[in-house]
Order: sequence, then structure tokens, then C-alpha cells
Amino acid sequence: MTALTLSTSGAATLRADALVIGIAKGPKGPVVAAGAEAVDKAFDGKLAAVLETLGAAGAEGEVTKLPVLSGLKTPVLLAVGLGPVPEKDDTYAAESLRRAAGAAARALTGTKKAGFALPVGSVEDAEAIAEGALLGAYSFTAYQDQGEKAQKADAKLPLAEIVLLGAKPRDKAVKAATERAVAVAEEINRARDLVNTPPNDLYPESFAAVASAAAKEHGLKIQILDEKALVKGNYGGILGVGQGAARGPRLVRISYTHPKAEKSLAYIGKGITYDSGGISLKPAGHNETMKCDMAGAAAVFAAVVAVARLGLKVNVTGWLALAENMPSGTATRPGDVLRMYSGKTVEVLNTDAEGRLVLADALARASEENPDAMVDVATLTGAMVMALGSRTFGVMGNDESFRTAIHEIAEEVGEQSWPMPLPAELRKGMNSDTADIANMGERMGGGLVAGLFLQEFVGEDIAWAHLDIAGPAFHEAAPFGYTPKGGTGASIRTLVKLAERTAAGDLG
Ligand code: BES
Ligand code: MN
Ligand code: ZN
Repeated sequence: MTALTLSTSGAATLRADALVIGIAKGPKGPVVAAGAEAVDKAFDGKLAAVLETLGAAGAEGEVTKLPVLSGLKTPVLLAVGLGPVPEKDDTYAAESLRRAAGAAARALTGTKKAGFALPVGSVEDAEAIAEGALLGAYSFTAYQDQGEKAQKADAKLPLAEIVLLGAKPRDKAVKAATERAVAVAEEINRARDLVNTPPNDLYPESFAAVASAAAKEHGLKIQILDEKALVKGNYGGILGVGQGAARGPRLVRISYTHPKAEKSLAYIGKGITYDSGGISLKPAGHNETMKCDMAGAAAVFAAVVAVARLGLKVNVTGWLALAENMPSGTATRPGDVLRMYSGKTVEVLNTDAEGRLVLADALARASEENPDAMVDVATLTGAMVMALGSRTFGVMGNDESFRTAIHEIAEEVGEQSWPMPLPAELRKGMNSDTADIANMGERMGGGLVAGLFLQEFVGEDIAWAHLDIAGPAFHEAAPFGYTPKGGTGASIRTLVKLAERTAAGDLG
């Protein structure tokens, strides 16, 4: 794991393998950002001109590397674009700093130690840079660095050591903020690992074992319901989805409690370790990335562990609804009726609408503990990706102010989300001739239909939000900022901030 330290060293005196500085896009070419004054001096005040000669403009995400002949103690200088020059001098949005730090860290893959001399105007800036750099310093090589490929893979190792310059290491607030960044980024990277792990190695039992080890390490309470326990507990939804697979389903309850907590939150994650669609099999081209269908559960798990590491004054229970959705002679058929944990019956018209079935049981079970609020996180529908694209998650729920709060918190932590409605008239599309409800309704507004289905399993008077992260959970395009290809850890920063807000008493 990448190490992060803070140093009072000047940018021109730090010994490292590379130095990162920021440049902004000005009307007449690139402008060197604060934090790099000494570096500019080492270039006789001509750094901006030198960078412009190399084609740099300061655009967001742009990376320019140049060799250093003298004046600095690093052989490489990396200038990363911060986007347009801010209206207020050197006051950048936290997300611009986070992305720039991430892009720089990614460009330094294979490097050992790098100093980051980006503009730090506040504690929040230091935190954003630390977070972005640590999230950018990620690669998933667990399946590549064996045998003869070892040497090649070596170059793919993430930046090993990040030295943050310009922040006051002895300032208590700076220390706390950067320690928070380390805890959150490490858990996000761990969630990314889980999402990226191929489904032949990550299945309900092995996911539960990972959670179990983490619970031990961080002093969390954990309870794992295996198939026998699920049968005994009447978890018809989770069992119905998992019954076609050779590897059985699990429901994991992992909880963090603080002795002085006044509020409790329940986080519920969709954990389909592989979604083939089941008997309603997905066509080729639609299942290659479906190892990502447990990203909701990974996010919930990571958030609970991060909350524990931060020692927040709030109780948070994570529910991981784990199953593998496979077709076989024992699989649920389209037309089958499941009796759910809540007692409701569901006619399964499409076995590919499986996420709502496992979540329904977990939501009903979590409701029994009467949390002050519940949030479920799921790669639930392709329709949400159609609606919002692949970088934005949808936020639905039964409580407008809670839904708004989540959208605003997401924006604050640099996660793209958008509030979506649950129009009542879409409910009747799920009317079933045989059961209480069907697991499918109208095709139009499919993401909202799924949300309406979930709502039926939420306990009365519990504020509930549903995050459909099908778009941003798994990044298939080229990496950008601190976002790598593959698992992203989407929604974790929002979940952690929500817990912090709740602990601080900021939310009803
Ligand atoms: N896991 C998928 C949704 C998904 C799609 C996640 C693309 C990530 C990327 C989910 O289980 C699914 O198959 N949903 C169906 C629902 C339909 C059958 C009602 C869908 O969206 O097509
Ligand atoms: Mn599916
Ligand atoms: Zn799915």
C-alpha cells in the first residue's frame, strides 16, 4: 500500500524520484500554481514558458514530464493541469485538486517516491490532494505479477511513497484531515480490489471471509448467515437468487458501534458476485463485466470499516446481500414465486432482475432494527446508466430531505449523483396475477421501477435512500483523474461523509 507522509521540506530541497507541481490554464498560456515558487526560481523564472514550449496549457488532467538538470533534488518534474485559473487567486475546488493529484500519481506508476507541491490553501486542500494521490496510486496486479511477467509487471506497481509538501504537518487539523484521507482512500482501494477480483475467486463465501477478517482486525461485530441459516430464517429472496449457483449465498451483518452514539445507520449493499442473468441469461457482450455486480456490497463494507477506523460517534450496520446469479437445473425459473423474508410473495418474471430480490430481504431484515436511516447501494439497473451516463449515480428514496442531503453530501465529497423520483404510477406495472408483486414492471423508467420495488420492503417510518451506482461503479473507459479502469469505489466517500454528518448531529 502506498505510504503518505507530510514534510516541511521545500519543493526545491526535497530528495525524491519526482516532484509534482500544478499549472493552471490562463488566457495567455499556462500559469504556475502556488506551491511551486521555488521550482520556478530553479528554472530562472521561466518555468511557465518552458512548459508552454513543451505544449502544456494547464488543462485539467494534462500531464507534462520533464527532466531536471539542476536546481532541484529530483530528476523528474511533473506538471499537472488544474484547469482554468481560479477567480480567486490559487483557490481551487477540492475536486480539481483531487483529480490533479490523482492524474499525477497515475502518471508516476512505477516510481518509488514523489513530492507533491500542489497549491495548499486550506486543510481541505491538503485532504483533497492526499485523497486524490492515494486513489490515483492504485493498480490491480494480483493476477499479473507472476513468473516471467514479473519484470514487466514491476513497472505497473503504483507510486510507493507520496510526500505532501506545503501543508503544516504539526497542525492538528491538517494531521487529522490527512489521516482521514488515508483511511478512506485505503478502504476505497480495498473495495476496488474486491470488485476487480474475478468471480471464480470472489464468491459469497469468500467475500464473507474477507469481511470476517476485517471485522477481526477492526473490532467489528460480524454475523454470517449461510444457506442453512438463510433457509431457517426464511430469506426467500436471497435463496431464490442464489439457488442456481454451485456456491451458495450469504447474508453478512457487520456492525460498528460507538458507546456514545446517538444515531444509527444501516447500509445495505447488493452483492451479486457474478450476474449471468440466470435463466433469463444475458447475451454475450453484457456479462463480461458482471463481476462488478457486488460493488454495492463492497462499498458498504468499505464504508463501515472506514467509519470504524475513524472512530465516529455513530452506530453503522452494514448488510451484505451476497449471491451468485447462475442458470442451472436448480435455478429459479421465470414464473417462479418466491416468499420473501418480509412475508410478501414475488413472481419472478425475469431472473436478471435479481438485485432487487436480494436487497428486498436485506432491507426488510435491516428495518427490524429500526435504524434512524437506511441507505442501500446497488449496481441495480442498466436503465440508470441510460438515464445518467456512466459517471453519475441516481439517488431515490422515501424522504425528500434525506435524498437531497445525500445528493449534496455527494457533491461535497466530489461524487457525481442526481436525485431521481419514485413516481407512484409506475407501481401498477409490477402487479402480478399470481403473487403480491412481480420483480419487473414497465421498461421505461426501469431504474425508478426498481426503486419502487425496493420501497415495498422498507420498514414504515424509516428514512431510506437508494443509490443506483450501475454507471459509476465500474469504469470501462480510459482512466481519468483518480479514477482507474475497473472498480472505482463509487459512493464510499458519500457513505462515510453521511456517517460523519450523522455523528455530528447535522442530520435530523
Ligand atoms: N446488474 C444488472 C444491472 C447492471 C447493468 C449493472 C449494467 C451494471 C451495468 C442488473 O441485475 C440487471 O440485470 N438489471 C436488468 C433489469 C431488468 C431485467 C428489469 C437491466 O437493467 O436490464
Ligand atoms: Mn441482473
Ligand atoms: Zn445484477
